[in-house]
Order: sequence, then structure tokens, then C-alpha cells
Amino acid sequence: MKEVNTMPQNPGKDACDLLDADHVAVKHLFVEYARLAMSGAEGADGRQALARRICDELTVHAQIEEEIFYPALRQAAPAGLLEEAKAEHQEAKELIAQIEQLPAAGPEMDALVTKLAQAIEHHVKEERDGLFTKARSAPQLDLVALGEQLKERQQELQGQAA
Ligand SMILES: [Fe+2]
Ligand SMILES: [Fe+2]
Repeated sequence: MKEVNTMPQNPGKDACDLLDADHVAVKHLFVEYARLAMSGAEGADGRQALARRICDELTVHAQIEEEIFYPALRQAAPAGLLEEAKAEHQEAKELIAQIEQLPAAGPEMDALVTKLAQAIEHHVKEERDGLFTKARSAPQLDLVALGEQLKERQQELQGQAA
């Protein structure tokens, strides 16, 4: 009954660090996209390639969260939080599908990418404040092992896409 949680602070990368590194990386891609979009005439091809890269990276990221991270959190986080996160993934997937259908970069793609960036920004904040906080305070979760599992699956999916 006098259980004290004395889990040491792990200096290594855990599942949340790994997922958050993806969040930061895709944020940089969105900033780069906005910069290209504002620079006008030049860079339609570059924008399209960048949009595709954003879509690919987010697709893999959402998949490893849904396959590995969210199920691992079932005991640690309220069901409502996980449901909300999945609904936000669904919203992002719909925007991604619309972006991928466009034949070329242009105002329509710019608007959709902006919308996706905003949706992802909101979702990332929810993950950081909600799910990551819950995960880190759940003593039964081995977040370092979970991080390794995420990384392995991510590499596998990226290999398939290449
Ligand atoms: Fe995420
Ligand atoms: Fe997510």
C-alpha cells in the first residue's frame, strides 16, 4: 500500500521524445512550405514535392501511433482522449487525401496545406499536453521499449514507401 514510484529519469529517448521529434520535423516542413508559397512564381514543383513529403511523413507517423502508441496507452489515458486523437487523425487523413489528389501546386494546395498545418498544430498540442503527460506518469509503461518498437515500425513503413 505504500508504493512509491521511484522510476529513474531516463536520459535516453522514449516513445514521447521520438514522436515529438517527428512533430518538430514536420513543423519545419510546414514552415518551409509556407516560405516557398509566399515566394510566388518559383517553386511550384518544390512545393508539390514538399507537400508530398509532409503527407508521407504524417501518414507514417499517424500509423505508428495508431498501431503501437495509442493501444499501449489504453490503461494509462482516458478513452475520450484517445478517441479524440483518432478523430483528429481522421480529419488529417481527409486533408492529406485531398492534397494528394491535386495534380500541381497552386492556391488550392496552399490553402489545404495551411489547413493541415493548423490541424496538426492543434493535434500535437493535445498529444503533448494530454497523451504524453499521461504516458509519462504511468509507471507500468516502458516508454523506452515502446520507443524502440515505434522506431522499428517507422523504419519498416518508410522502407516500404521508398
Ligand atoms: Fe503525433
Ligand atoms: Fe497523433
